[in-house]
Amino acid sequence: MKCSLMHKRVKVADIELDDASGFIKKINTVYAPEHLPIGVSIKKGVADRASLNDWWTERSIPASRSGIREALELLDITSTKMLLVRCYGLSLSDQYWICPEGTNLTWDNINFFENSFSDDVGDVLFGAKKKDNAFDFSSPDNTSDGNLKKRWKIIAGKRCLVKGGSTPFRQQPFNEVIASKIMEWLGISHVPYTVMWNQGIPYSVCEDFITGETELIPAWRIMQTLKKENDISVYQHFLNCCEALGIKEVIPYLDRMIVLDYIIANEDRHLNNFGVIRNAETLEWIGMAPIYDSGSSLGYDKLAGQIRSERDITCKPFKKYHEEQLKLVSSFEWIDIEKLSNVRALIMETFSEGSASEYMDETRMKAIADTVEKRIRNVAEMAMSYIPVQTISTEYDVEKDIAEDYGPKMV
Ligand SMILES: Nc1ncnc2c1ncn2[C@@H]1O[C@H](COP(=O)(O)OP(=O)(O)OP(=O)(O)O)[C@@H](O)[C@H]1O
Ligand SMILES: [Mg+2]
Repeated sequence: MKCSLMHKRVKVADIELDDASGFIKKINTVYAPEHLPIGVSIKKGVADRASLNDWWTERSIPASRSGIREALELLDITSTKMLLVRCYGLSLSDQYWICPEGTNLTWDNINFFENSFSDDVGDVLFGAKKKDNAFDFSSPDNTSDGNLKKRWKIIAGKRCLVKGGSTPFRQQPFNEVIASKIMEWLGISHVPYTVMWNQGIPYSVCEDFITGETELIPAWRIMQTLKKENDISVYQHFLNCCEALGIKEVIPYLDRMIVLDYIIANEDRHLNNFGVIRNAETLEWIGMAPIYDSGSSLGYDKLAGQIRSERDITCKPFKKYHEEQLKLVSSFEWIDIEKLSNVRALIMETFSEGSASEYMDETRMKAIADTVEKRIRNVAEMAMSYIPVQTISTEYDVEKDIAEDYGPKMV
């Protein structure tokens, strides 16, 4: 299929997609190289096809998404990339899309920020049977990232991301609420989440923090803009990329994110779980995105004993261990520990909401509250006597940054 890669109303390049696989076969004329996705290089007017394909593939639902195999079978579609083609690659997290040759589609007529979208794909992703006739593929669900079951819904006129949790504890939706409250108390820019129940199953709900003018560029893409030398740490490389691009106030943001992730023992802050916002028309950097997706934390998949021992807690995106990552923090001056004095009540109340007791027992709740309080005490102690590290080594760096897969674990 011949089409144009579009960035909102700007024609970026003419491309050709393979009809069977949805792969980008060819990049023809590049009209607006500055509008190519961040991290896609261009040399002498020729855009790098492999890296554009990487970007395009990352745009589709990951193959590791909970329930995606069954959904594809039901829809009789071979790959998630083909789903992408069916909705012109439109998303609610950025402004890229593809315009097939010979159609007169316009951004204003088809974007999901202003136009409504179908519930059909979301219904199937949530386990419904396929409608017999007139199935409508136009949905931002075809481009949503992440492994947890999720869908976009228009609720009271607002575009909202509705996201489940992983079995057996289905804890992520509650964790999002707890994490957002902790961030509110600490004055950290964040996406607020609430819990919604549907047929006895908890889901987190948050509003789209992207608008028709802005877009989210995940840290992963920012990291592609410079070559990483082996002796440069992952953390330093991210800072270098941001500096080269002119993104400001990165260190204070990372300080806050690292401290939050330490307190809640977040295990999945990979490089697509934080990012930068820019204006999609002027390409001006607006700043770091409010913190989202903090659900894979608070021992979400662990038993009470494991939560207390903290033995198997992993850390991302910079260091493998939270204690090591915490050493990257430049300043603790912004933290007012007193603001967290009600954290136990917050945890107990959130996990007692609705039918939460079906998934959460007192022993786990107590183990979570005890470890969070212990971690807050550790942060307070560290803040008292802190001397920032001057040179950041590559020791304990995260080597491979991949999202947590919630399928059965191989041991
Ligand atoms: N409120 C939001 N507004 C706009 N885009 C969002 C919002 N929340 C999430 N996203 C986008 O959707 C993607 C998937 O959401 P999210 O990270 O919450 O899902 P997840 O399944 O928990 O991911 P993971 O695989 O990291 O566990 C994010 O990486 C981000 O690009
Ligand atoms: Mg995520």
